[in-house]
Amino acid sequence: MLDDMTSARRLPMTGVPQPTRASVLALPDVHISRHPVVAHKMTALRDRRTASPEFYRLVRELGTLLAYEATMDLRTVGVPSETPLEAMTGQRLAGGVGIVPILRAGLGLADGFRQVLPDAQVWHLGLRRDERTLEPIEYYNQLARATDLQVCFSVDPMLATGGSAIDALNILKRYGVPHLRYVGLIAAPYGLSKLREAHPDVPIYLAALDERLDERGFICPGLGDAGDRQFGTL
Ligand code: PRP
Repeated sequence: MLDDMTSARRLPMTGVPQPTRASVLALPDVHISRHPVVAHKMTALRDRRTASPEFYRLVRELGTLLAYEATMDLRTVGVPSETPLEAMTGQRLAGGVGIVPILRAGLGLADGFRQVLPDAQVWHLGLRRDERTLEPIEYYNQLARATDLQVCFSVDPMLATGGSAIDALNILKRYGVPHLRYVGLIAAPYGLSKLREAHPDVPIYLAALDERLDERGFICPGLGDAGDRQFGTL
C-alpha cells in the first residue's frame, strides 16, 4: 500500500534532466521535416477538437508525406522499359522495402507508407508502454526473416522516452534486419537523444520536434495519445 502511494506521488519523469530542443537539433542523421504541408497537417492533428476519423486520416497522410522524405536517397537500378512511343531505360528500386508498424499507433503511419510503397512487406510488432514505469512491453511479434531488403522502416508516431523505439530496433537487429530507419511524427528531445545514442547507425525521420516530456512522460505540447486518438478508444 505504501509502495503504491509512494509510486503514485513520484511520477516517472520527475527530476529527470532533459536536454533542450536546441541541443538535440544538431544530432547527426536526424531529419525533421520542413515541408509546409507537413506543418499544416501536424497543426490539425494536434488540435484537441480533431475527432478520431479525421485524426486517422491525417496520420495516414503524414505517413505518405514522410515516406516520400525518408525514401529520397534509396538506390535504383536501370531496367529496360517501353513507352507507347519507344524503348528506354527506366529505374526500379534496388531491393525490397519493409515497414514495421509499432502497434497500435504505428498502424496509421504504415497505412500512409503503403500508399507510396504498395509492394512493401509489413511486419507487425506489438509494444505497449507500461504507464507506471514507462518501460516498453513486447506483446506481439509477426516479423519475418529479412530477405533482400534495401531498407526497413520502423514506424511509430510518438518518440517520448525513446524506450519503445530503442526496443523495436533492438528486436529488428536481433532478427538480422539490415538498413533500418526510424520514422515518427513527434519526438521529445529526451527520447530523440536516447534513440540517437542507442542506435547511432539508424537514420531518424520526424515531422516535428517538441519541447519536453511532462512528469508522466507525455510529449508536450504533443498531440495526446496517438493510439487512442486514431482508434477512438479515449
Ligand atoms: C506509445 C507510442 C510509442 C510509445 C512511446 O504507445 O505509440 O510506441 O508509447 O513512448 P516511449 O518513447 O516512452 O517508449 P502506447 O504504449 O501508448 O501504445 P499504443 O500504440 O497501443 O497506444
